[in-house]
Amino acid sequence: MPTVREIQRGARDEPLTMLTAYDAPTAAIVDEAGIDVVLVGDSVGNAMLGYDTTVPVTLDQVASHTGAVARAVDDALVVADMPFLSYGASEAESIENAGRLIKEAGANAVKLESGTHTVELTERLVELGIPVMAHLGLTPQRVNQVGGYTQQGTTDDAAAEIRDLAAKHEAAGAFSLVLEHVPDELAASITDALDIPVIGIGAGGETDGQVLVVTDVLGLSESVPPFAESFGDVREEMEEAVAAYRDAVEDGSFP
Ligand code: KIV
Ligand code: NA
Repeated sequence: MPTVREIQRGARDEPLTMLTAYDAPTAAIVDEAGIDVVLVGDSVGNAMLGYDTTVPVTLDQVASHTGAVARAVDDALVVADMPFLSYGASEAESIENAGRLIKEAGANAVKLESGTHTVELTERLVELGIPVMAHLGLTPQRVNQVGGYTQQGTTDDAAAEIRDLAAKHEAAGAFSLVLEHVPDELAASITDALDIPVIGIGAGGETDGQVLVVTDVLGLSESVPPFAESFGDVREEMEEAVAAYRDAVEDGSFP
């Protein structure tokens, strides 16, 4: 399996592949396809739990889905998202919550939506043996503050702030960085500046890897963000199977 150290060293020719999963059968498919990193994202809120945002997602929910994924994955690195306000307010509580995702749920690492409030926390978690993936650019847990899901880092000041936070999180010991929905040139320059791998989503093709939400990739989501892409049409397959079952029962051909 790719270890945190292998991913951190990034000594590979091909871009890193990361994809979310929230349940055991999907995680097994993702793992068997040879995806490097399986992310149990707090996108579980939108993708699976019927919420409009990731804000209401709880640690118990992420822990439960992480357990399902970790039990199904043999090779990939399993990273669990820390949900909104499960970190950052109190250091002790943040450590306890990250520890639950590792010790109870079986994740190999945690991801935190990063900011000035996560530099010291990242250092502390890494010091304790909990690998941390940082996340900058669009950070959807801040939707109420930002007011939407618009591209970030579009002004010189905003770009400089993201660059600065990226460097600070690398120095704090993060083993990789997700950059979401920022201009391609900003993502490329941060990728150049950092030693740790940068994994992009809506950040162009010059990062060290890519991540998407699995329900978008499968074509199961009702709507896909402009920067994502569907590589299948699982929704249509499911609709057809359910309709075929209904018809078979109604017309007596099953059982
Ligand atoms: O929750 C999630 O799926 C994520 C990825 C989009 C990076 O954070
Ligand atoms: Na997330």
